[in-house]
Amino acid sequence: MTFVVTDNCIACKYTDCVSVCPVDCFYEGENMLVIHPDECIDCGVCEPECPADAIRADTEPGMDKWVDFNRKYSERWPVILEAKDPLPTAYDMDGVEGKLSTHFTDKPAAEAA
Ligand code: SF4
Ligand code: F3S
Repeated sequence: MTFVVTDNCIACKYTDCVSVCPVDCFYEGENMLVIHPDECIDCGVCEPECPADAIRADTEPGMDKWVDFNRKYSERWPVILEAKDPLPTAYDMDGVEGKLSTHFTDKPAAEAA
């Protein structure tokens, strides 16, 4: 079992989840995070921390595609170890439907200066 980040993270990226993860298994794309399914220890503490309610247990219906998605991008994007400011679009984009097709980018997060 693992927890996964789902589409409502896109264009929000609040990063509150990062602060609480005991095993640093969040990875950062340009406008969303993912969880590495093999590193997550299923502690569940990140799930209630997400203001966008984007984190789900993989035992919920329909999560298989999100496990694959989280695995794919956690192997391509850099690890994120500390929370940062949400994206400027976070408030407006929270809850917008269909963000995976309209706003997702597969680019990794920019390297920290
Ligand atoms: Fe990290 Fe626990 Fe969330 Fe898994 S469930 S991503 S280990 S905080
Ligand atoms: Fe995304 Fe929620 Fe974390 S919006 S960055 S999963 S706190």
